[in-house]
Amino acid sequence: MIIKKLWHLGEQATQRIPKRFTVIVPFLTDTNRETYTASSIVWYYTQLHRLQPAEQTILDLLRDRLPTMKMLDIGIGGGRTTQHFAPLAGEYTGIDYSATMVAACKKRFAKSLQPLALEVGDAREMSQFADNSFDFILFSFNGIDYASVSDRLQILAEIARVGKPGSYFFFSSHNLQAMISEFDWKSKVSFNPFKTYVNLVMLALLNLYNSKITRDQLETSNHLIIKDESHNFRLQTYYIRPKKQIEQLSLSFKDIEIYSWKSGLKVVDMQDLLTNSDKWLYYLCLIK
Ligand SMILES: C[S@@+](CC[C@H](N)C(=O)[O-])C[C@H]1O[C@@H](n2cnc3c(N)ncnc32)[C@H](O)[C@@H]1O
Repeated sequence: MIIKKLWHLGEQATQRIPKRFTVIVPFLTDTNRETYTASSIVWYYTQLHRLQPAEQTILDLLRDRLPTMKMLDIGIGGGRTTQHFAPLAGEYTGIDYSATMVAACKKRFAKSLQPLALEVGDAREMSQFADNSFDFILFSFNGIDYASVSDRLQILAEIARVGKPGSYFFFSSHNLQAMISEFDWKSKVSFNPFKTYVNLVMLALLNLYNSKITRDQLETSNHLIIKDESHNFRLQTYYIRPKKQIEQLSLSFKDIEIYSWKSGLKVVDMQDLLTNSDKWLYYLCLIK
């Protein structure tokens, strides 16, 4: 069944893959937004409940202060983080640029006794919020990675504008350093022949969808747009080297800390950071 599905995916990929997606695009079209509007994808996000370990770490860190905080949750999807943060925050506003995600989220929390502001809104342009409005801003589960290179900078500027000076921004982003092994066939071989077969088919698809990306680019670029396996290679995803992410943040943010999404622990050593190969990392920082 799985093999059949993989072959079908492969066939679809060969037939459908438009040439413009095989180059490294400097900008993304809004196909990502369309993907996040599709009902099957919305359904998937409504089924998620648990916090990721790094999110739990930050919730624990802020737990005592959350009741006095105005929180903005960007890219709420099906409400996974809403479920955990909204009951603790003094005021909670959740936005998503996918109207179908917001509708699903409203349905999920229809019986909530607490007033929740769940609205359609785009992180690239948040003119509905005044300057210095929030104490804590969250953009979880790599939501920021579905914007183009220039839109990402615009999002960071908007977040710095709507957050109060000294307030928290917490988000995650895909780690380009993890992709070296993702593209390496040797990391796909295991003792289980079936697993090896599935891994190699996925690797073939990864190469097919990213045929213009070279080994040299993977090793030396600061960031790349990659079509990874999530949602059947439909998304164009921004991957960044952690050191570059720190640089990108330093214009408007300070006191940057990095957390492993898997262990929830802080990455303290710069050497660890340079070699870290978690698929994505969480960044906690303060708005300047
Ligand atoms: C990977 S999903 C995560 C959903 C949810 N936060 C979770 O953790 O389950 C990313 C979400 O970010 C939203 N998103 C992406 N770019 C956005 C933007 N520019 N403004 C608002 N929402 C955005 C998508 O619609 C999607 O719901």
